[in-house]
Order: sequence, then structure tokens, then C-alpha cells
Amino acid sequence: MKPLITRHLGPDEIELAASILTLGGLVALPTETVYGLAGNAFSSESALKIFKAKERPAFDPLITHVSEKLLSMPGGVLNALVESGVIDRSTTAWKAAPAIENLIQEFWPGPLTLILPRGSKIPDEVTSGSPRVGVRMPENVLFQKVLSLTGFPLAAPSANRFGRISPTTSGHVKAELDGRIDAILDGGPCSVGVESTILSLEESDQQSLIATLLRPGKISRAALEISLGIPVGDGVGLGEKNQKIAAPGMLDQHYAPTKPLFLYPGPFPNRMLLDSWIQKIGLTGTPAFLCQDLNSAEQLFPDEHRSILTPEADPAAAARALFSVLRSLDENAAIDFILAELPENTEEGLSAAIADRLNRASVNKPLLKR
Ligand code: TXA
Ligand code: MG
Repeated sequence: MKPLITRHLGPDEIELAASILTLGGLVALPTETVYGLAGNAFSSESALKIFKAKERPAFDPLITHVSEKLLSMPGGVLNALVESGVIDRSTTAWKAAPAIENLIQEFWPGPLTLILPRGSKIPDEVTSGSPRVGVRMPENVLFQKVLSLTGFPLAAPSANRFGRISPTTSGHVKAELDGRIDAILDGGPCSVGVESTILSLEESDQQSLIATLLRPGKISRAALEISLGIPVGDGVGLGEKNQKIAAPGMLDQHYAPTKPLFLYPGPFPNRMLLDSWIQKIGLTGTPAFLCQDLNSAEQLFPDEHRSILTPEADPAAAARALFSVLRSLDENAAIDFILAELPENTEEGLSAAIADRLNRASVNKPLLKR
């Protein structure tokens, strides 16, 4: 691949970002979750370029990002998505269409991706041939300004090379994709820090709504159930077990640092127990300890490499820090492996998302028992 010159754009260069996209180029844009690598969602060529830049396998579909202008369309957002060719007309005839419209009004713009029947303007290359499309309305102001200038929706996966840690700063994007994309629009660090919640929505033969959570994120399963008024099934991990992959990007090994990351299931115990656990699974070399809060870090590892996700045990701060911390541990040459503790309350949206990402980043899933 011939290297490109990747331009670094400041927040006041939105027009330039939009023109590059209009000409069929790729621009990494900030969203509230992670940076996305954006291209025209109506263009097969742009989609193919995204796959190439990321070295992403062709079976893993892209999320289509839409403008918040749709929220003020008189016929509602679902109708506007149909009219713009993003989703299929059949969706608006579903019995549950009003419930989905309410869900959208409650959570968009924001970190929620809905998987819905695909519309006529979304090419095969964006959905990897699937008859369904992932749609999300991001909240980030710069992203929204770019969308209002392009006039077309933007396909955008996380702006990292396939399988690697998602970027939450423009510097992370540069480390991943410099020379492979046309520009990076710098919007500072992402405010949420982990990718959107993915919810699959289908209509059964009996016209009831089937809602399945495919990826945990800030918007929790409980919040989705309250809004929709029906149970939301658990489809996280479906992609690992089924031939028919539900969210193909949700592979077992993902979001991974290049150094081996091991998970300690639950809070770190006292030092003696932890050392014997480390010995039992045969880990040698210099560890870095990834702690969920300050307490465990200061007491257990006064003199060693340690990182803390959040000093004040705040899941939002932990999520914001997660990918940055993993990245810096990965870059530290003095460390041989990373040992991370799993957050305890894994029902809550962000804690569940952190646990999910750490699980996928880790190499010892079969060793999860203490
Ligand atoms: O927060 C986010 O969602 C970020 C920002 C940039 O918006 N994007 C993101 O994209 O995380 P990506 O490509 O890294 O992950 C998208 C996931 C993948 O696991 C993909 O398989 C799934 O969404 N997905 C997209 N379209 C789908 C579809 N039609 N059916 C099932 N899964 C789909
Ligand atoms: Mg990704």
C-alpha cells in the first residue's frame, strides 16, 4: 500500500474534513465513545478503503453514523432513515415501530447502535453482505458538524487496526493509522471511552419484537428493557459460539494489547494469594498490575508497575481511562505481561462494558476460575 500523508486537522478545520470525505477520502473523527474511521456510507469504494486501511476482514460490517437533524423530521426518525435509504421500509410497518421510535428519542444522539433491516442506499461492502445495518447517531459535536456538511451518512468502525485497542485520542489514531488515511480530526479525548452498546432488533413471525444485546456499552441492558418494555436477550458472545455470527466484530480475541494480558477474576486478593495464583498459572517475568481502584493499588503493589483505572471507583472514569491505560502498559518495555482485575458489578452498563473488553483482551479465558 502506497503511504498517504495523513493530515492532522484541528477542531476548526471541519470544512476540510467534510470535503475530503465528499471526495471519497477517509478521515478519523472523534465520537463520544472512541475515534471512528469515517468514509461515505453510500459508497462501496469508501467502504473498501476503510477495510484496507484497518486490515479488517471483509466479514465484519461497519456501523453507519447518521445526522442528528433526523431527530427533528416531522414523520419521526425511523421514517427519515427509510427516506434516506439507510434502513428498509418494512421497519416502519413493524408493530413495535412506535416503541423503537421512543427508544431512539430517548437515547439518540448517544452511544447506542441499532441493528435494523438495511436500506437500498447502503452497499453490500458496508454491511459485509448482511441484509441488516448497524445505525448510530453520535453525540460528538464535531462529528455532527461534519455530518451536516457532507449530507450523507458516514460508515465508521473504531479507528484502530483490526483486533487492536480502540483509540480514544487523536494520538492513538496516529499510532494506528498514520500513512494509511487522509486525515485525523482532533477533538481531544473521548468522553465515554468504550464503544457503543449494540442492540439487534427484529420482528418475529408473530409480529413481536425480538431485542438482543450484542455488545455491552454505556447504555445498560436494564435501561433498554425499561424503554422498550420487553426483555432484552443476551447475544454477547454469540459471535464466538455460532457459525452464524451475530456481531461478527465481537470475536473472542479483540481489543488486545500485544503483550499478554491475564485476568484475575474479581478484586485482587492479598499479596500471598495473588502470588500463588500467578505461580499456579506459570507466569514469569515482570508484571504490571491493572487495578480498578486506588485502594488495591496502594496496598498491594507499593513498589511495582501498576495502573489504576479510577482513583475514586467511578465506572465512568474507569471506562474513559481503560484503552489509554492498556495502550501505555503495552508500550512500556519494562513490562512482560499485564495482570488485570475484573470489575465486580458487571450488571451495570459501563462496568459490564469494561469487563467485556478486558475479557476479549485477555489470553486466559480458560483459566478464569480461581
Ligand atoms: O462506539 C462505536 O460503536 C464506535 C464509534 C466509532 O462509533 N464504532 C465501533 O465500530 O465500535 P466497530 O466497527 O469497531 O464495531 C462495530 C461492531 C462490530 O462488532 C460489527 O460486527 C457490529 O458492530 N455490526 C455492525 N453492523 C452490523 C450488522 N449489520 N449486524 C451485526 N453486527 C454488526
Ligand atoms: Mg472496533
